[in-house]
Amino acid sequence: MKTLVKSIILLTITLFITSCGDNKKEDKYGNPLTKEETKTANETAKPEATSLAEKGKEIFDGKGTCATCHKVDTKVVGPSLQDIAKIYKEKNASIATFLKGDEKPIVDPSQFEVMKANFALTKTFTDEERQALEDYVLSQAK
Ligand code: HEC
Repeated sequence: MKTLVKSIILLTITLFITSCGDNKKEDKYGNPLTKEETKTANETAKPEATSLAEKGKEIFDGKGTCATCHKVDTKVVGPSLQDIAKIYKEKNASIATFLKGDEKPIVDPSQFEVMKANFALTKTFTDEERQALEDYVLSQAK
């Protein structure tokens, strides 16, 4: 029994090491990148977008209290985030502007009164916070 566990651990470690070795990146001209270059390429590629959406999720679940009425894939009180993201992407509209109270509803206008009550709160947010909420909601598109 003990040897079996040991060999599984060894196998996992071996797989891990070999898969890292294969993970070579290329630049846009197809030249392989050195380890250092790969690191900076990864660092410059992602952070901005993910961190703003992550911040948006924090506000969404936290002080925004949005999660009480909105779930990712099912309609609760409000439409699902997937539905909202789909429609806002199709219409190329801005959730951030909507949350400022400056836009008409385009998802479910018949229920707008319920959502509208939240503007009292979202109007007190900064533009960046509203943008973070937008990035988070859009990131939930299917
Ligand atoms: C009390 C329940 C409730 C809360 C809390 C709530 N919403 Fe809503 N939300 C709704 C309802 C109902 C709708 C559907 C009406 C509509 O489309 O305007 C909606 C619609 C929306 C829409 C689509 C608007 C459109 O164009 O039709 C967005 C975007 C949205 N909510 C984002 C948020 C965010 C972000 C928060 C948190 C700051 C939040 N909601 C908090 C109930 C709520």
